[in-house]
Amino acid sequence: MRLDKFLGDQNIGTRKQIKEYIKNGRCHVNGEVATKPDVHINEDTDIITFDGVELTYSRFHYYMLNKPVGVVSATRDGKNETVLDLLASENVKGLSPCGRLDIDTEGLLLLTDDGDLIHKLLSPKKHVDKVYEAHLAKELSQDDIDRLEKGLDIGDTNDDGSIKMTLPAKVEVLSPDSEGRPVIHLIIHEGRFHQVKRMLEAVDNEVLFLKRLSMGSLKLPSDLPCGEYRPLTLEEINELKN
Ligand code: URA
Repeated sequence: MRLDKFLGDQNIGTRKQIKEYIKNGRCHVNGEVATKPDVHINEDTDIITFDGVELTYSRFHYYMLNKPVGVVSATRDGKNETVLDLLASENVKGLSPCGRLDIDTEGLLLLTDDGDLIHKLLSPKKHVDKVYEAHLAKELSQDDIDRLEKGLDIGDTNDDGSIKMTLPAKVEVLSPDSEGRPVIHLIIHEGRFHQVKRMLEAVDNEVLFLKRLSMGSLKLPSDLPCGEYRPLTLEEINELKN
């Protein structure tokens, strides 16, 4: 396997960053400084270090994307740009978005080829926390907040036809945005279709702008601009898996 592929697989950086890191002498193969990204290594027997730390091979890839509005959370789409198009230069096969954000929603999206992790994070039984920033058409009353927090009817039903209420959620009211619109953080533990928008609709309000800030332990870093992505750090991967 090529050294740059090995380092990419270990989430050291994007292809472009890795080229630069190798140029700067940060990677060693069997004690010798590596100078070429395309040198072939044996991932089972060679000792590869990055900044002096030995790397053990893992075959999965993990990226976080700050999804922009106008891009769809799908692997393919006949019409719109997809989140996978934004990572095309990584040349990683089998990546999928972990869940979906609507085309007009911004923010944190995990993309990985680790199907077990996707399954675990999306499982309705796991109740992984998701924090959304929502800019609203009007202020919430205390009664609206109580209803959102307690759980409410957003039009879903259980298999037996009974109403499927949303699970208890948490609302934090923030300062209004620059256009004077009310802003909240809504913390939910499910991932139903258009859930945040439908919860706000159920209290006779409207979401005018929506951004996901976190999913489980994974947080959108303030220095990751909209439309940009980066590999997860080993610490982030381990926290998510646990
Ligand atoms: N809830 C929504 O309504 N839309 C999203 O994109 C995510 C959560």
